[in-house]
Amino acid sequence: MFSKDGNIKDVKTPRICDVVWHNGEFINWSDARVHVMSHVLHYGSSIFEGIRCYSTKQGPAVFRLREHMQRLLNSAKIYRMDHPWSLEQLCDGAIELVQRSKMDQCYIRPILFRSLDEEHPAFGVNPFPNPLACYIGAWDWGKYLGDEAIEQGVDVCVSTWNRLTPNSMPAMAKSGANYMNSQLIKMEALLNGFAEGIALDDRGYVSEGSGENIFLVAGDVVLTPPLSSSILPGITRDSVIQICQELGITIKERTIQRAALYVADELFFSGTAAEVTPIRSVDRITVGKGGRGPITEKIQKVYFEITKGERQAPGKWLTYVNEPKQANSDNNGFAGSKIETAGSDGEPLMSYQTALD
Ligand SMILES: Cc1ncc(COP(=O)(O)O)c(C=O)c1O
Repeated sequence: MFSKDGNIKDVKTPRICDVVWHNGEFINWSDARVHVMSHVLHYGSSIFEGIRCYSTKQGPAVFRLREHMQRLLNSAKIYRMDHPWSLEQLCDGAIELVQRSKMDQCYIRPILFRSLDEEHPAFGVNPFPNPLACYIGAWDWGKYLGDEAIEQGVDVCVSTWNRLTPNSMPAMAKSGANYMNSQLIKMEALLNGFAEGIALDDRGYVSEGSGENIFLVAGDVVLTPPLSSSILPGITRDSVIQICQELGITIKERTIQRAALYVADELFFSGTAAEVTPIRSVDRITVGKGGRGPITEKIQKVYFEITKGERQAPGKWLTYVNEPKQANSDNNGFAGSKIETAGSDGEPLMSYQTALD
């Protein structure tokens, strides 16, 4: 049983899994509801993930499932969400959900939030009295920035909104509240005729898109802002870094000035939803030759080959949904990029692997 066609401005949502994982059980889509006085609705107290499951010749395969679930656990830790769910339980829940959905490809959305104890309601900002609820839903999601974007690239702007400051809302946590900032960036971009907006950090350096990390190609070197530019530590970003390393392309984390976007040879976004999407103009200034550049194309090709299961990944990145657990556990080791995520002064901040382990 699937929902009716959901036709909204940026994407189509044609198929939704009719069951939802809830605190370890499967419930019907229509029963997955919260009270209107839940803490999360008033104070933004949720953390979540976005994971893609790809169609491969060996059936559906979830891309970097453990890394995503580990980031969910990291976000929960930052927000002192003391929940009982283990990495294993969350991964198993997501796999069973995809199995039950019968979809061969989908987008998986785990979410953990502060709800309402109806017998002992609490309405204040203090989150501690409110119980935690954990859900995982799934739906079939097409190309986030449009079908043509992958080949032709997108026209974007630099947003008038800055990204969150590290000492206000941690960009490292994928919290629902951070996406109020993303919505400001996205709405401004759409209303001005752009597909996406790029936010600068509070110092004026390039941070990221409303829902994507960004890469810049200068000559034969690929650059991306460090974690200290208030970015989400993207799993796709990490995948791109590892793909570059495997292809022998020099990749560096660097603070990037806004003006460098205009004179770059190539620019592209990375993200679970956006995958690897070229940027063809910024603020109506053409980037490079105005389409998908050769280095972007090379990285994109490898990324799609890996997600389709047609090429060996640098790490064990695919979890095959229909394979026995043992086969998958061999296929599931952590493999964060070896690049050190540097602070703005170039000092190592933390390794990605440390962030994920
Ligand atoms: C703000 C933001 N930055 C970056 C990303 C890319 O992260 P990932 O590659 O893990 O999806 C996302 C998508 O989740 C995002 O919302």
